[in-house]
Amino acid sequence: MPPSPPPAGFDAFRYAHEHFHQVVWMSQNTNHLFPSGPVEEALELALKEKRYAAYPYAPGDPELKELVLRDYPLPGAVVGITGGGTEALYMIARALLSPGDEVIASDPSYLIIHRFIELSGARVVPLDIYQPPFRLSVERVQAALTPKTRMLLLIDPLNPLGSGYSPEEVRGFAELARDHHLLLLHDTTYRDFAERHTLAGALYPEGTLTVWSVSKNCGLAGVRLGGYLATPELAAKVARYNTNDLGVSVFSQVAAKAALRAKPHVFAAVLKQTRENQQTIRRVVDALPGVSLPVYPSQGNMFVLDLTETGVDPVALQAELLLKHQVFLRAGNYLSPKFGSRFIRASFSNLPSDLEAFREAFPKALDALRPKALAPVA
Ligand SMILES: Cc1ncc(COP(=O)(O)O)c(C=O)c1O
Repeated sequence: MPPSPPPAGFDAFRYAHEHFHQVVWMSQNTNHLFPSGPVEEALELALKEKRYAAYPYAPGDPELKELVLRDYPLPGAVVGITGGGTEALYMIARALLSPGDEVIASDPSYLIIHRFIELSGARVVPLDIYQPPFRLSVERVQAALTPKTRMLLLIDPLNPLGSGYSPEEVRGFAELARDHHLLLLHDTTYRDFAERHTLAGALYPEGTLTVWSVSKNCGLAGVRLGGYLATPELAAKVARYNTNDLGVSVFSQVAAKAALRAKPHVFAAVLKQTRENQQTIRRVVDALPGVSLPVYPSQGNMFVLDLTETGVDPVALQAELLLKHQVFLRAGNYLSPKFGSRFIRASFSNLPSDLEAFREAFPKALDALRPKALAPVA
């Protein structure tokens, strides 16, 4: 019997939240490995002290800013604290782009940034990167430049593919941006997962906006805290679009401080497990005809499983995995208008038991959806 399609109007996220304790969360690049102790302790104290009764210090906790600067050695840069990196991206697009501007980006990409760019009247110029080397190159960006080009969006490491940029490549992008007076938006959300990472802001400080987040490295996606780093001049322009005039949640800032203080001591173990998990997924994939990993190893905590050769629809596979096996991966249409029907994304900062569930579920769900060869007519 063919698998039943998901019910009409099926909302995968609603289902996953309603079944939070049963669902294996490999859909949002969240981190389920960061130890909870330091954050729990800090939040309990903040609750006991009723820190919620007063507004936070509006510009953001100075100690939190110092901790961010410890991770981002960008001399002269100032830190903006926002409701997740998402809010920083929104503010940057609104503050620095105008109607008619062009922004060079990629496809696949983290598409909400493209929507923010379009909201400010600018146009996204997405370069296809769903082919080797699965990332932007200086040459291709250069060829796409027009007199209207205002910004280059560099997501590094790149969600969803997991590609990362070498120091030489980042230097090349920084030089290109400087030569053409472009802004360089460097989204470094997955920086801690990379084997090596270069900050464009260190090479081209006057034109780079660096976006950071504690959602993925510190396992704090639910608290919604991140921000930007830039020169005081650029930061002041961006800050004009701050809607959180009274500051970001005190609890978020308390949690982020505790996690960033703990990170140097605990992150090596998080990384080790994350890397083992991508090997586990690779072993599963290697045994499945037609499934491949365009980028391996990933420099982030996610990558893409290409399904083109299987004939399986990623949206159907997402539903089958979630509804029948409680394993939540994300179909590619969310991440690429052009190539999204070819892949599903898996993230893997997860406990070994989650990977075990994936190992069991993925081959079964895929087999249930593979188009069956027609039986020969007798
Ligand atoms: C590339 C990229 N930038 C920014 C974000 C948003 O992060 P935050 O949770 O800090 O808003 C994400 C989240 O998935 C992302 O993948």
